Amino acid sequence: MHAAHRTLFPTGETTDFYFNQHWSDLDLLLKNKNVIFITDENIFKNYPSFFHQKNTLVLPAGETSKSMETVVNITKDLIAFEADKTSFLVGVGGGVISDITGFVAAVYMRGIAVGFVPTSLLGMVDAAIGGKNGVNFQTYKNSIGTIRQPDFIFYDYQFLATLPDEEWSNGFAEIIKYGCILDKNILDDLSQHSIAFFKQQPQALQRIITQCALLKIKIVQEDTLEKDKRKLLNFGHTVGHAIENTYQLSHGKAVAIGMIIAAKLSEKYTALPTDAVLFLKTLIEKYKLPTTVNYATNEVMQALKMDKKRKNNFIDFIVLQTLGKAEIRPTSFDEIEQILTA
Ligand SMILES: NC(=O)c1ccc[n+]([C@@H]2O[C@H](COP(=O)([O-])OP(=O)(O)OC[C@H]3O[C@@H](n4cnc5c(N)ncnc54)[C@H](O)[C@@H]3O)[C@@H](O)[C@H]2O)c1
Ligand SMILES: [Zn+2]
Repeated sequence: MHAAHRTLFPTGETTDFYFNQHWSDLDLLLKNKNVIFITDENIFKNYPSFFHQKNTLVLPAGETSKSMETVVNITKDLIAFEADKTSFLVGVGGGVISDITGFVAAVYMRGIAVGFVPTSLLGMVDAAIGGKNGVNFQTYKNSIGTIRQPDFIFYDYQFLATLPDEEWSNGFAEIIKYGCILDKNILDDLSQHSIAFFKQQPQALQRIITQCALLKIKIVQEDTLEKDKRKLLNFGHTVGHAIENTYQLSHGKAVAIGMIIAAKLSEKYTALPTDAVLFLKTLIEKYKLPTTVNYATNEVMQALKMDKKRKNNFIDFIVLQTLGKAEIRPTSFDEIEQILTA
């Protein structure tokens, strides 16, 4: 088994990152632990031998599982399994599974150990990392949750063999996000290649996954509780979250549309060149993601009022100075509305 990359957070928590593993080695890691796996029906169906003879809770696939109702059901099941403070939850799946498993682990008996095996590209580059967890309430994304780091994240890229095409696009939405806010080279790399290329070139894929994971880990280490720099990771997510559940878009698609709105806002207020907005639009289309949706401005504005970055009439909006460099700009609801109606 490859050595772990141990990350210490200022909160005193640690996460061991096991990159480039084979899932059979997970048994070694969890030896002598009282483990309960949480997954969704797609992963359970695709990988029966993984779950063979393991205590496993299987959730319906999809965003609707990220609810308080699921938390209640899992709690009942954990009690039936006689799970206690020494139990270990392991979420095997995409971002829905890591968000809900992390949340249940944070609150069950005031907190039990948790680890993640991300199986979607989006989970590998983003959702499994950084400790944010939670569920949606009504249409409000992630409105109930905590920040609590997992004990480990275990990467086996072979899971990606069964990932549906649409989910590849969703994962690339977050990869494009990292490029926009932190590293223009990622955008250049993506613009020279395609989803098909990354599927056929495991080394290039692993390189970009690790690159994004390390970028996120560094930011979360510097600002675990999102007082400042971590907010940059919300680029595209302010409007993205406001439209995701209302228009039943996948997370990646909602973020792609949100990034275009944020880029237009940047064009107007931080002088992001028009060329850069067009470059981003072309890249998003190349990775088979949408750049717009037919939304009702008043519905989006209503949802924005629930944004966690709101301060009275302003939201800490993430804008770009250039491609690869972002900043936090307090932006009024009026300014956002103007862009949404433009
Ligand atoms: N906590 C965070 O920091 C963070 C960051 C980004 C996104 N998120 C959350 O993550 C969620 C989106 O994550 P996601 O896109 O992974 O969604 P998801 O978990 O719903 O997975 C997408 C789909 O792919 C399927 N799938 C996953 N892995 C598979 C595999 N290996 N083979 C076959 N099918 C597979 C799932 O069953 C599901 O149908 C959203 O709820 C979002 O809010 C959280
Ligand atoms: Zn996201």
